[in-house]
Amino acid sequence: MKTLIRGGTLVWESGEQTADLLLENGRIAAVGEWLDAPDAEVVDAAGKLVLPGLIDAHTHMDLPVAGTVTADDFATGTRAAILGGTTCLVDFATQDFGETLAEGLSHWQAKAAGRSSCDYAFHLAISEWRPDVRDELAETVRNGVTSFKLYMTYANQVTDREIFEVLSALKPLGGIVGVHCENSGLIDACTASVKARGVTGPEGHPLSRPDEAEAEAIHRLLAIARLADVPVVVVHLSTRKGLEEIRRARAAGQKVYVETCPQYLLLEEGRYALPDFEGARYVCSPPLRTGADRAALWQALAAGEIDTVSTDHCSFTLAQKDAGRGDFTKIPGGMPGVEERVRLLYTYGVCAGRLTMPQLVRHLAANPARLYGLYPRKGVLAPGSDADVVLWDPDAEDVISARTHHSAADYEPYEGVAVRGRAETVFLRGTRVVDRGELIAPNTGIYLTRGRCSL
Ligand code: URP
Ligand code: ZN
Ligand code: ZN
Repeated sequence: MKTLIRGGTLVWESGEQTADLLLENGRIAAVGEWLDAPDAEVVDAAGKLVLPGLIDAHTHMDLPVAGTVTADDFATGTRAAILGGTTCLVDFATQDFGETLAEGLSHWQAKAAGRSSCDYAFHLAISEWRPDVRDELAETVRNGVTSFKLYMTYANQVTDREIFEVLSALKPLGGIVGVHCENSGLIDACTASVKARGVTGPEGHPLSRPDEAEAEAIHRLLAIARLADVPVVVVHLSTRKGLEEIRRARAAGQKVYVETCPQYLLLEEGRYALPDFEGARYVCSPPLRTGADRAALWQALAAGEIDTVSTDHCSFTLAQKDAGRGDFTKIPGGMPGVEERVRLLYTYGVCAGRLTMPQLVRHLAANPARLYGLYPRKGVLAPGSDADVVLWDPDAEDVISARTHHSAADYEPYEGVAVRGRAETVFLRGTRVVDRGELIAPNTGIYLTRGRCSL
């Protein structure tokens, strides 16, 4: 099957050019001006931006949290993703207590198999660091699961010693670790004092997880990684103070990769004070921060100090959020965003003059592909790469709403927000899966094994 995408504006990290793209047998066969392919179906892309399929490297589909399970499973979550122009997810398979890594991975494989409309891969979250888990690492990496996740808070938090041991064990194997950085002891202490003051509603959430808790954890993680002599990924960076820790480490020669999320670029902590428990919709960890934090993150993104923007999509319904009425610590943490990420970054990044299109492609496609061992198979419009292609209508205008989104969450954190741009047509490995904004070929995603980080 051949498809010739004719006359669109192709976007790479290095720039933009009006050209053609030939897709053949699931791959990009050629890129150039006035390509000739008489037997190809021709798609007129004049006036459209032609982007590599975007990658969201931080999602939680079908994740058990706080006695419930996320609203989106792989069927609904990836449907939302691909309709927003995201063709590839790296979700988090989680080792449960008592499980091996292989068992954790196979649970998540079963959740996703045959139900994903995006291609997908898994990071492996290590909940229990045991000698047999250490012994499993080499085979896990050999099998193409090359990134891991550690939590410095929550029930599956690991100790500093464990972080050091995991990083050291992965060093010769070439695996990379992403870490949720919040100081658990500070959170416990702040939670107790907030509750002692009688605060029970969502407004207690940001007070219980101050910016210092993130900055301290980042500082500590970077010290541990320095000693282990390995690069590390700080996921969902939310604060200026955390960014300053990263800057200091980098200035001293340390390699640190950084991810942030649309909610930390666009939303602020004032949301938690909304009446009628509305603040629960925005409960996620780390919490939303101040305008000054947002400004610092935008600046760092534009300067290339932040490498990737993924969503931390972790969706719940309002009924699920209700579990925390009367006790903000029981509100399941997380919010949807997988469908809206590209439009939000296009509108409030590119159209607002904060980012260029090549920067958007770098942060949402090329860098996540490099960081997680998918480049150049994914993340770039180049001969030989998978034919994951988005025809982006730059002139489309819309208003985000839960009435029209595709997540199983029954609310939208960005309700009423005006956006520009739309993933009009999406090809996944050469197959047209989204046509004029409609998903016409669901569940065609495949599992991806991965190589080493090349960022
Ligand atoms: O509140 C959030 N972000 N939930 C998802 C899990 C995590 O911390 O990444
Ligand atoms: Zn996290
Ligand atoms: Zn997460």
